[in-house]
Amino acid sequence: MSSASRTSVLARSAALLVLTGICVGGWQQWARAQDIATPAETVPAAIVDPSRIEGHAKCVDCHAQEIKAWQASKHATRAFDLLRTAPTSLEYAKKLGIRPTDIARNSLCTTCHATQQRDEVGRLRILGGVSCEACHNASGGDDGWLNAHAVYGPRGTRREAESAEHYAQRTATCETAGQFRSANAYQLVKRCFDCHVVRNEALAEAGHDHGDGFEFVTKALGEVRHNFFLDRHGNAEVATLWTDPLHHEAGRNAAGRKRVLFVLGQLIDLETSLRSLATATDESDFSDLMVERIEDAWGLLAEDLLEELEETKIAEVTEATEAVETVVEKLDDDGFDPNDQKLYLEAAATVGKAARQFAARNGNQLEEVDDLDLIPEGPFEGAYQP
Ligand code: HEC
Ligand code: HEC
Ligand code: HEC
Ligand code: HEC
Repeated sequence: MSSASRTSVLARSAALLVLTGICVGGWQQWARAQDIATPAETVPAAIVDPSRIEGHAKCVDCHAQEIKAWQASKHATRAFDLLRTAPTSLEYAKKLGIRPTDIARNSLCTTCHATQQRDEVGRLRILGGVSCEACHNASGGDDGWLNAHAVYGPRGTRREAESAEHYAQRTATCETAGQFRSANAYQLVKRCFDCHVVRNEALAEAGHDHGDGFEFVTKALGEVRHNFFLDRHGNAEVATLWTDPLHHEAGRNAAGRKRVLFVLGQLIDLETSLRSLATATDESDFSDLMVERIEDAWGLLAEDLLEELEETKIAEVTEATEAVETVVEKLDDDGFDPNDQKLYLEAAATVGKAARQFAARNGNQLEEVDDLDLIPEGPFEGAYQP
């Protein structure tokens, strides 16, 4: 590629960034955000496909409130800056052999602290912040979900007039194209754990936080929450699209959704921590922490939840905890053993399957769970209100 075309691409990107900054208004983040190009070959598999990232500028027109809530969250204000300003970043980088000047463009760090985007000429840009598509998955491309997700039928069809058939087709298209929707809570929740339970032995050994105490309900219903779809003046406690009677059985409500999210968070914690332990090569602080997470999540689900319920049975959780029981016993007796990798992965697969099934519930049959006082009660810290 000639340096002239490189410059023009950069200039266009810069113009887009400036434009976005103006449109959104006073967005300090963008003024500071750098449009950093890195050699493509230094980038390992990212959490989302960078070549299909459109960037949150593409969402502003229709999702102004979601954007405002996101802008106020640390995913937008802090996640990327930490790489450039936190003294600990330098410390971790040094231990991992990353040059200080490369941290904010290093593929490992930016996988979780930013959103990577590959432009049409194949260069990688780092968008500052953990943005929409980091959680809802990359949306671009001709067959991407962005073009399909808000079209209700032949030109001009209003949302209320969408046929059941079209709805089924549209949502199936979006899911095949990779969209993580509130209807697929498993995928959305798992995405949080992919970043928040740092599954990288070397990074953890360099001192990086392992996501201690990341509890889904507390974290998701606080500053991260942006549930404005049916009411742009109120940030609902749970996804309004998920409760919308237009497309779902009546009676779905926030209390039910919260029960599902709570149990699902624990199941996914169990699955993620088992997978993480399977990557450990030796007994270390990293393996210790993963063992602790497994024991905590298992104890909560098997003992604090299932054993305490008098009437309610939750078959998926029974299946998941039974599959992990031998692992927990073995860890208790002999501790972590790298040779048990297969055992950990098999248990994780069963938990994952059970979690995906459980995620489809509406929570109305789980009322008894509330009596156990396990679910954190809101209001949660930092929730954005318009
Ligand atoms: C042309 C307007 C428009 C644009 C642009 C747009 N959206 Fe949407 N989006 C909508 C509408 C309308 C809905 C509600 C869809 C429905 O009724 O099921 C929606 C729904 C969603 C949902 C919830 C889907 C579900 O079923 O749970 C997500 C997530 C979403 N949009 C993300 C994005 C992201 C990320 C971008 C930018 C990359 C974006 N949207 C750009 C209009 C748009
Ligand atoms: C797997 C995802 C992931 C990767 C990879 C990752 N981080 Fe993080 N990082 C996080 C998350 C999530 C947090 C917030 C943790 C929390 O608050 O519990 C965080 C927190 C931090 C913090 C603030 C807390 C502290 O420890 O001081 C710094 C600094 C940081 N990361 C630097 C880095 C650097 C530098 C790299 C690359 C060498 C990196 N991170 C790679 C996910 C990641
Ligand atoms: C940190 C991850 C994360 C980020 C970043 C994120 N979302 Fe979401 N989004 C979620 C989760 C989780 C839900 C479901 C919330 C629930 O069930 O209460 C959701 C729900 C939604 C919904 C449905 C809300 C409703 O009322 O039903 C829309 C629309 C949406 N997101 C759009 C966006 C847009 C646009 C952006 C970027 C500005 C964005 N999201 C950024 C995780 C994220
Ligand atoms: C692409 C990686 C990534 C994904 C996906 C992600 N996060 Fe984060 N998150 C981060 C990083 C990095 C930080 C910055 C840490 C800080 O500010 O100390 C952060 C910060 C946060 C914070 C503010 C700090 C705190 O711990 O209170 C919350 C809350 C949070 N994330 C919740 C979530 C939830 C809930 C989801 C899923 C719906 C999610 N995150 C998905 C990377 C991610």
